[in-house]
Amino acid sequence: VQELALARIAASDDLAALEAARIDYLGKQGSISALLKTLGAMTPEQRQSEGRAIHELREAVSAALASRKAELENAALDAQLAGERLDMSLPAPPRLEGSIHPVSQVMDELAEIFADLGFAVATGPEIEDDWHNFTALNIPETHPARAMHDTFYFDRADAGGHKMLLRTHTSPVQIRTMVADGAPVRIIAPGRTYRSDSDATHTPMFHQVEGLVIDRGIHMGHLKWTLETFLKAFFETDDIHLRLRPSYFPFTEPSAEVDVWYRLEKGRRVLGGSPDDGKDGGWMELLGSGMVHPKVIAAAGLDPQEWQGFAFGCGIDRLAMLKYGIDDLRAFFDGDLRWLKHYGFSA
Ligand code: PHE
Repeated sequence: VQELALARIAASDDLAALEAARIDYLGKQGSISALLKTLGAMTPEQRQSEGRAIHELREAVSAALASRKAELENAALDAQLAGERLDMSLPAPPRLEGSIHPVSQVMDELAEIFADLGFAVATGPEIEDDWHNFTALNIPETHPARAMHDTFYFDRADAGGHKMLLRTHTSPVQIRTMVADGAPVRIIAPGRTYRSDSDATHTPMFHQVEGLVIDRGIHMGHLKWTLETFLKAFFETDDIHLRLRPSYFPFTEPSAEVDVWYRLEKGRRVLGGSPDDGKDGGWMELLGSGMVHPKVIAAAGLDPQEWQGFAFGCGIDRLAMLKYGIDDLRAFFDGDLRWLKHYGFSA
């Protein structure tokens, strides 16, 4: 019996076969268990001789079962470890991470810089009515900006009979802020704007940031200082040369367009330098600005005798192109990961 049992145990090559063998020998109905049961009916002499043999048989079989079990378990563990081995020399798969789009990044930078100057961030709806977008800003019915081919209109008017449109600039936020909060005001309003326009430097949707300060005794000097301080902080250089060029906007009087001087470096426009340094360069138009027109202050429900202010409106996409050396505006809105990666805006 013992030889047979040991041979079967040695031949069990998995844990299930081994367990079946254990049950056959040592289980309740097992053959060795049956032998043990015969001890009770034996004479003391028989027990002396055969009993010991039976016990030894059981010991030998149990020991063989235990050691074979350990062997099989070790083998299973080895197999598992071999299968799970890591090859540390393999290159790691690329980790795809989300990131901040250059336009969002610039909006965050603007909010931070102007927060230091005491400006809050204001917002307004992208779907506007023509009163906030045009009329309250002293833009007459005949102004070309109102034309169908320049502005996206909706078919339906609002409840008050106003034409609805996609705002063409962030200036309506001037009106909304003055109407809602009164004076004084010190805000910037970054956001999306829309015009019916598309080429390398114009997209139908683009971004502007509006600035508005309303207080007592505000003058053009405050405007110039604020813009200079902002641009130096944004472009991280004191080497910024501005020019205020007389201009016209219906909602500011006087109005000025602000140009900034750029150098030509290997055919690229780089901010900095000045017209007197004898190097290649030119003026680049950066933003529109001016003293808020008294009619606009009155339209928003404030007394223009008491309150004055300045406003400016600046293309955010253009700021981003300048700061990060990007040539084609349209690439901003293609959502092409390769492009974002190239400019360091994606992992
Ligand atoms: N809203 C003007 C534009 O879109 C910019 C502007 C804003 C000019 C505020 C003056 C004052 O061109």
